Amino acid sequence: MAKAETRLGEGDAETPVRRDATASQREGTKTPSRSRKSGSTRSTSSGQAGSPSRAGSRDWEKRLTCEPGELTVNFVESLSIDKRLYKYDIVGSIAHAQMLAEQKLITKDELKQIKDGLIEISQEIAEGRFKFDKTYEDIHMAIEAALVDKIGEAGKKLHTGRSRNDQVATDIRLWMRDEIEILQVKITLLQKAFVKLAEKYAEDVMPGYTHLQRAQPVSIASYLLSFVEQLERDFIRLKNCSELLNTCPLGSGAIAGSTLPLDRKGTAKQLGFSDISYNSVDAVGDRDFCAEFIFDCALIATHLSRMAEDWIIYSCEEFGFVRIDDSYCTSSSMMPQKRNPDVLELIRGKTGSVYGSLMAILTILKAQPTGYNRDLQEDKVHIFTASDTVEACLDMSRAVVSHVKFDTKKISSGLGKGFLDATSLAEYLVGKGIAFREAHGIVGSLVSYCEKQNKRLKELSLEQFKQKCASIESDVYENLGAAKVVSKYVTEGAAGPQQAKRQIAYWNKQLVQR
Ligand code: ARG
Repeated sequence: MAKAETRLGEGDAETPVRRDATASQREGTKTPSRSRKSGSTRSTSSGQAGSPSRAGSRDWEKRLTCEPGELTVNFVESLSIDKRLYKYDIVGSIAHAQMLAEQKLITKDELKQIKDGLIEISQEIAEGRFKFDKTYEDIHMAIEAALVDKIGEAGKKLHTGRSRNDQVATDIRLWMRDEIEILQVKITLLQKAFVKLAEKYAEDVMPGYTHLQRAQPVSIASYLLSFVEQLERDFIRLKNCSELLNTCPLGSGAIAGSTLPLDRKGTAKQLGFSDISYNSVDAVGDRDFCAEFIFDCALIATHLSRMAEDWIIYSCEEFGFVRIDDSYCTSSSMMPQKRNPDVLELIRGKTGSVYGSLMAILTILKAQPTGYNRDLQEDKVHIFTASDTVEACLDMSRAVVSHVKFDTKKISSGLGKGFLDATSLAEYLVGKGIAFREAHGIVGSLVSYCEKQNKRLKELSLEQFKQKCASIESDVYENLGAAKVVSKYVTEGAAGPQQAKRQIAYWNKQLVQR
């Protein structure tokens, strides 16, 4: 510990430069060297990060007696992550400036200069001509500094009645609204791919599993449409999230609003928000929508991961139910025969990172004292990671689903195994007036008899059936065998081909409207 302290005292990059006599003595060390008062540019020969060319750097920190060292600059900056918010920051700033002009807090001419300047900056960023300088900490300061650089005095008025606290809260909401739409489109495309696949296998039957043990026969289409249902909930969840986040915090300032007559509703309207936030103290510290958004991403990832898990299992030699297209498989560097479902394994694996983001945001939020705290800056990496990961997984899933093949021959050749028709037989007995619990017992003993005889239920003779239950008639065979069983399902939403076809028709109608 003592050693570490000594080392830090020896002109380490972290040592701040004081703006007094000692400061001049330190000129030429690895620490920042520009005097705040002079406004001159910072020496970069010292190795200090940052652009020496922009006058007014860290102008917002005149209160401090020294500038941060490289260590702090690197630690505090979020520009490397939040620069992707630039469009939203600029759109928000234009709306804010417009409102300032309407409220006569800036002149029309100043508004024009601000607008033109911001549009130019936007173009520079889009074309990769903008020099991002992390000494400006984040995208908000970087753009404002560039604006002041470009248009001078008018640029200094943009931040009137605004804090980065309400600004960033607005930017994230604007970004998220758009991101949700992108995710919804990708969800819909994947749903359509599943429906198309379901159409192809509308008449085919596979075993349905519970506890990964053979349970009852289901139509392959019903199995596939189960993912469409999951994705539909994801779609609606995102829609709800978008509606809930659609309030504008702009005008909440740092925490208390402003003494200036800002037209908050006007800005909110311009930015397409459905309302304003009604408590400035809450508005600047609220990131509930980020947690909710990541949760929604986490559930999408969960659903894709379950599909991936199924198909990893279904594609193995032992199952052989599905064949993943070669384009989505990889081989082994050692075993020449291998066709590995790596893409699916990665969809499953990437879910872990999305869950990580969810845990992270919840943990970041849980101990926030009321108001804005810099901890909140850590929100962005997680919303971006979660959405980027889920976007990629949705795209990949759609590709896999669009090219997967079910080996219906292999699947149907195994349908006789596992007594998939046992429940149907018990329900047949219910139809003959036998109480279900009793019927369950009768079929249980029939199954155990068959197991000993190495027979299927439908291979038993009527006499053998009658020995266990006198109510069984020759019509029993109508209820045995996977194909017959699925055709007997009558409940709404059941996993038979008739129900599946109805669902396909529903989804085709529903999804075409999106
Ligand atoms: N980069 C910051 C963030 O993402 C912007 C807000 C900074 N506010 C402040 N009071 N330092 O949260």
